[in-house]
Amino acid sequence: MKVEGKHYRSLWWDDRERVLMIIEQRWLPHEFRIEPVRSLQDFATAIVQMRVRGAPLIGATAAYGIACAMAADPSDTSLDAAWSVLNATRPTAINLRWALDRCRGALRPLPPGQRATAALQLAHDIADEDVEVNRRIGEHGLTLIRDIAAKKPAGEPVRILTHCNAGWIATVDWGTATSPMYHAHDAGIALQVWVDETRPRNQGALTAWELGSHGIPHTYITDNAGGHLMQHGLVDLVLVGTDRTTRQGDVCNKIGTYLKALAAADNGVPFYVALPSSTIDWTVADGVAEIPIEERPEVEVTDIQGRTQDGGIGTLRVPPVGTPGGNPAFDVTPGRLVTGLITERGICAATRDGLAGLFPDRAGAA
Ligand code: MRU
Repeated sequence: MKVEGKHYRSLWWDDRERVLMIIEQRWLPHEFRIEPVRSLQDFATAIVQMRVRGAPLIGATAAYGIACAMAADPSDTSLDAAWSVLNATRPTAINLRWALDRCRGALRPLPPGQRATAALQLAHDIADEDVEVNRRIGEHGLTLIRDIAAKKPAGEPVRILTHCNAGWIATVDWGTATSPMYHAHDAGIALQVWVDETRPRNQGALTAWELGSHGIPHTYITDNAGGHLMQHGLVDLVLVGTDRTTRQGDVCNKIGTYLKALAAADNGVPFYVALPSSTIDWTVADGVAEIPIEERPEVEVTDIQGRTQDGGIGTLRVPPVGTPGGNPAFDVTPGRLVTGLITERGICAATRDGLAGLFPDRAGAA
């Protein structure tokens, strides 16, 4: 996607310096900073601190982390250590383990002397595939938005509510939930996007930044506003991403997604989830019981970061000093509350049969 007219992916390899370049997301939307990531420990820190974030982007970053570890030491011990260090960074998004398993599975049979080159190529492949998969999600989601637009009075925008940031900055490019929005906008369909602020880390501000850069009309709302907007017929579609999708169609996404799904169900608003198949965890059925939910530092809840009046970036504490904060970072929306899943292979029901119908090759192996 473009930032001030220049095309960017959210990460890219600098071949001359032999480092991964990332867009440092902690400063967005206020400052656009690019940073190199060099050592295995740098990669782990970048993921833990959410300098890079979003399930697909975490996966692609981890693949480059393995490549970096293999360039330093291509032994079996180093490969296993890199897998463990990176896998321990964030527990919920399954793309992380998906990418790490894919790298280790491909590299292990190779002689150590060939691993560094192969690992880098694999990381490039994972990044390129992510772009193509998200582009296809956008094409499938476009059909959905086009159908909704066709039923609306002429000139009225399709009103979409989204939570968190499942945008291009959370993937290598396009985003998952945002890809249908970008495709629809580019196809001339009028949109109005309600952007949940997504406390505690306000990923909605990233979504607002992205949509604004692409010229898509949007409004930043509190996390509590969605139910009210749905009750008043102001939302045609809820469209979100996911960090892990179970084989029976439960979706685990940023905390607060479940409440949006409940409000959508109560108001008859379609609730769709966009996902690359790398987000499906075929080993898990019941998301509520089986998916580990990341608990993040309480300071993310008690303190808020933003642009200060003097133009800098600062933080403010909100509750009284001494009041503890609780910070479960994700929740699970049962498949029964999900109208459909938008994948790179098409749209399906959020059920075991729906997913198996689109992915018979993977469902069978699980
Ligand atoms: O904690 P984050 O910001 O990494 O959480 C991101 C989300 O919950 C996204 O919705 C999800 O990863 C899908 S990104 C295409």
